[in-house]
Amino acid sequence: MTAPLDAGSHEAFEHDRGNRLAADLRRICRRRATAVMRAPGRVNLLGEHTDYNGLPVLPMAIDRSVLVAVAPRPDAIVRLFNTAPRFAARRYSLAGSIPPDPPGDWANYSKAAAQGLVRAYGARIRRGADLLVEGTIPSGAGLSSSSALVVANALALLSANQVDIPYPDLAELLPAAERYVGTLSGGMDQAVSLLAQPGHALRIDFFPLRVRPVPLPPGHSVVVCHSLVEAEKSGAARDAYNLRVIECRLACHVLTHTLGARAGHGLRTLGDLATLAPGRPLIDWLPRLSAVLPERRLSLAEIAAAVGTTSEALRIRCEIQPGLGDAFSPVRRTRHVLSEADRVERAEDALAHGDAATFGELMDASHASCRDDYEISCPALEDLVGCAREAGALGARLTGAGFGGCTVNLVRDADVPPFLAHLDRTFYAPRLRQGDAAASHRFIFHPRRGAEVWRRQEQPGLASA
Ligand code: GLA
Repeated sequence: MTAPLDAGSHEAFEHDRGNRLAADLRRICRRRATAVMRAPGRVNLLGEHTDYNGLPVLPMAIDRSVLVAVAPRPDAIVRLFNTAPRFAARRYSLAGSIPPDPPGDWANYSKAAAQGLVRAYGARIRRGADLLVEGTIPSGAGLSSSSALVVANALALLSANQVDIPYPDLAELLPAAERYVGTLSGGMDQAVSLLAQPGHALRIDFFPLRVRPVPLPPGHSVVVCHSLVEAEKSGAARDAYNLRVIECRLACHVLTHTLGARAGHGLRTLGDLATLAPGRPLIDWLPRLSAVLPERRLSLAEIAAAVGTTSEALRIRCEIQPGLGDAFSPVRRTRHVLSEADRVERAEDALAHGDAATFGELMDASHASCRDDYEISCPALEDLVGCAREAGALGARLTGAGFGGCTVNLVRDADVPPFLAHLDRTFYAPRLRQGDAAASHRFIFHPRRGAEVWRRQEQPGLASA
């Protein structure tokens, strides 16, 4: 764990990294960097798997980020370099249809941004660039290193083409662009990376995108701990994530059917339930679903029968890709999503009143729901959450997509040192090899500002855009 920096020192630290990166890019490709982009990762405090359901989330941008130094080119070629040797150099051409590298390849996140921008802005995005990337967000940790990479690449290509797009518009565009990598993810990660405000968490609502800064409880720290299980969204965890999205789509379809005329033109997402009876707790809708579907895992044929249709029609209707298996749990997934959205509402209220205890309880309840109904926890995350509670966390839960990655913990400032000591002793010491310090797997994060573009002047140094 690096010692937390205050806002000024953090900014100076990031600017220094940017200056170094710009100089390195010049050395590598003999072109001057015209700008450096910074896109932070995020930790989600509450509201897990609600974003693609059109329901709110409560993340904050963190101290770790992706920086990209950009040197525009006269042609349409993008050359990608990374300061980490495990990410080999890559090259592609800008086009409305860019062939992907094999799944999991880091270049796909740049290509996702490029293809999304070309499709949205056409010939305005025609100049390629040499890009040097440096990331400090651990990957597979649930801290959104991939979306930060997409955001930073998008900003770099926009800068190379001297196209200015307001951040809220980019936050609407990039989630769809990132689906290039094959994950059906929602819009939380790109939105918070672009729109976060320093010192605050961000409540984000979707369809349309709206954001509202939320204060964090004074005198408390956000401690993020890695479970040491990597959950790469482009790898094994991808199908498990996509399956959850499909289960929610199935639930929507069944609810539309059972609600009949009340559902109007039909529910596009579970979040549309909020428009049917404003002010009514969302969880009150659950019985309408459980009246027609049992809670156990169901085959597609069983769900189809419940709404008088065929598996094939359902497959088309809910865009179910092959390979996701034939066991779906729409009722339990819906119970999580609807109760989680209610928790976000209550959490925002608690935070507005500086009520850390209630916020911590809501984090705990969210974890239980993620584990029992959404089934996205794993033994290491359970152990870590257990240790954190023993160590006095006010709230402890998995964060991000799940299936590994990190937990987020709310801890009184005064309790942080014993909290960390307890975790090191009980969770990390038995699991880490000698020489691997526990301190490099847990972090105290401060809510940082969203993405920035630092334009470079002729003389060395960076000027804020
Ligand atoms: C990943 C996705 C997000 C969101 C979270 C779960 O981070 O990219 O859109 O769905 O999982 O809350």
